[in-house]
Order: sequence, then structure tokens, then C-alpha cells
Amino acid sequence: MKDIIVLGIESSCDETSVAVVKNGKQVLSNVINTQIAIHTQFGGVVPEIASRKHIENISDVTNEALKQANISLDDVDAIACTYGPGLVGALLVGVSYAKALSYATNKPLIGVNHIKGHIAANYITTPELEPPFLCLIISGGHTHLVHIKSYVEFEILGKTRDDAIGEAFDKVARVIGLGYPGGPKVDALAKEGTPSIQLPKTHFENLDFSFSGIKTAVINLHHKTPDINKADLCASFEKTVTEELLANTLEAAKKLNINKIALAGGVSANSYIRNSFTELAKKGFEIYYPDIKLCTDNAAMIASAGYYDYMSGKKSDLKLNAVPNLKLE
Ligand code: KG4
Ligand code: ZN
Repeated sequence: MKDIIVLGIESSCDETSVAVVKNGKQVLSNVINTQIAIHTQFGGVVPEIASRKHIENISDVTNEALKQANISLDDVDAIACTYGPGLVGALLVGVSYAKALSYATNKPLIGVNHIKGHIAANYITTPELEPPFLCLIISGGHTHLVHIKSYVEFEILGKTRDDAIGEAFDKVARVIGLGYPGGPKVDALAKEGTPSIQLPKTHFENLDFSFSGIKTAVINLHHKTPDINKADLCASFEKTVTEELLANTLEAAKKLNINKIALAGGVSANSYIRNSFTELAKKGFEIYYPDIKLCTDNAAMIASAGYYDYMSGKKSDLKLNAVPNLKLE
């Protein structure tokens, strides 16, 4: 079978990334220009600045991705870009650029759902992983428990009713003075503490999640007890949210009789969460994670998801627009 080369473009938040991926799983290049240093000064992503930086960077990042893959645009079979969910101005840069490339080269355009990209990061790290499996997508913007029925069929089993889990990590970090982005900082400090502080948990009839209650509890504790041990607070926060993730995932696994579980998204880089899910292997589960570099936003995962859409015949046209609140379907 002929090799299929997809150029992927990601610009949904604060990473401008372009990648070249062969046959959905083999990364030829994955260039990521992160704006973290810029947004750190403001304690979070400033959408207007993100859009402007994407515009400044996207051509250079694309040229670098083609150069590192040692190919030209002529060798590309399809152009995939994230069209949602994300920040509208940021998304528009990638979508407009991809449309222009598609028009100029007469190559097919594929609009990719960012969440499907996070899921596909697992196919790159573990090429032998095949659906069906359960995927827990935990990132700065999303918390979804999804039944991956095939490469292009998804059923949402549960999702957050309020904050995304990464948002909760970032907020906790900000309040206790760790800075932005908070997830990795909470991760590091938690290693020095013990999970001795009792925090509230939420449980719903279905497999939904909620993280705003625990986030508020941590913030209140910090304000009421200024000398509270921050490392213990981080360790307790991590342990409590992990227990919620595990409980819903195991319930879904039991209901659907599935023993393959993959994690995805920025928060799946968290060492406590990774270790806790790894423990499930002892109970007969197969556990998968993307490489750390593929957990946070990158274009290789978008090219991979775009490849499966392309192979299933799904293509976009030049009317493709950014959809900030795009749902997974
Ligand atoms: O997937 P991602 O890059 O962006 C979205 O699509 O939302 O995820 C970013 C999120 C941020 O909230 C960041 O704090 C979190 O992932 N994160 C972590 C870790 N590394 C990144 N959270 C907990 N532990 C980590 N090690
Ligand atoms: Zn993301």
C-alpha cells in the first residue's frame, strides 16, 4: 500500500505546532513552538497574544517541519488542522493557514477535532494499540472518558460538569503561589508531601466528573490555614482527583467489559496519575500513555487523527471554520 503523508497543524491554544506523519503512526517531524514563557508573565494564556504569536510563527514552524522531515509540500498527501475546540482567534490562524496551503497545492484539507488528536497520540507512542479501548482525556481544557469504538467512532461515557482537571491543577498552583503552568509544579511539589489532608470527592449517578468543589476546598484551606504544608496539600489534591479518575474509569471498564485503558492530554503527563494507572496492570488491565512530549499540545497527534479521518473518507472544504466549542462525536 502507498504511504500516506499528512501535514498536521495545531494552534488551538498556546502552542504553534506543525508535524509530518507517515501512515498515522510514524512521526517524521513534530515542531512545537510554545508560548509558555510569554503567557507566564500574565499567569495564564492571553488569547489575543496567543493569536498574534501564532501568526508570527506559523510559516517558520511549517518550513522547519518540512525541512526536518526532509520532504517538500509536493510529497504531502493531505493537510490536517485543528478546527476546534480551542480559542477562536488561535484556531483561526491554523485553519486559515491550512486552507491556504490546501488551495495553493490542491491537496485535501482535513479539519481535526483537537480531542481526537489527544487520543491519537497513543497510536504514535504504541503503534500496536488498536480500538476498541477506553480513553481518559485529561487536559487543560477537557476531561472526557471515551469509548474508542474504532479509529473514527467515539462514544462519550462521562465528562466534567464544571472545571477541566488541568484547570483545577493550574488554579491550585496559582493560589498557593507556584506559578503557571501549574500542573508540572504541583506534580513536582506533591512528591515531597504526604496525602494526609482530607478533601471532598464528588460522585454522580453517571460517569461524569466534577473538579470545582475540590479546587475550592484546596483554595479555602490555603486561605484559612496560611501555614498549611503546601507539599501535603498538592499530594492530597493529586490523590483525591486520581481516585475520582480511577473510580469512573474502572466502572466504565466493568460495564463495557474492556480491559484496555489509554490516557491522553496534558494532565496524563502527571507522574502520580501515571503510576496509579500503571498499578492497574496488576489487576489484568492493559494501560497505555502517550510519550510525555505527545501528552501536551502538538501537531503530530493532529496529523495522526487526520490520517484516520482521511482514510475513512472524511474531508473538509474551504468553508472550514474554527469551532471554539466543538464537541466530540
Ligand atoms: O493538553 P494540553 O497541552 O492542553 C489542552 O488541550 O488543554 O494540557 C495542558 C494542561 C495544563 O493544565 C497543564 O497544567 C497540565 O496540562 N499538565 C499537567 C502536567 N503537565 C501538564 N498537569 C499535571 N501534572 C503534570 N505533570
Ligand atoms: Zn490539548
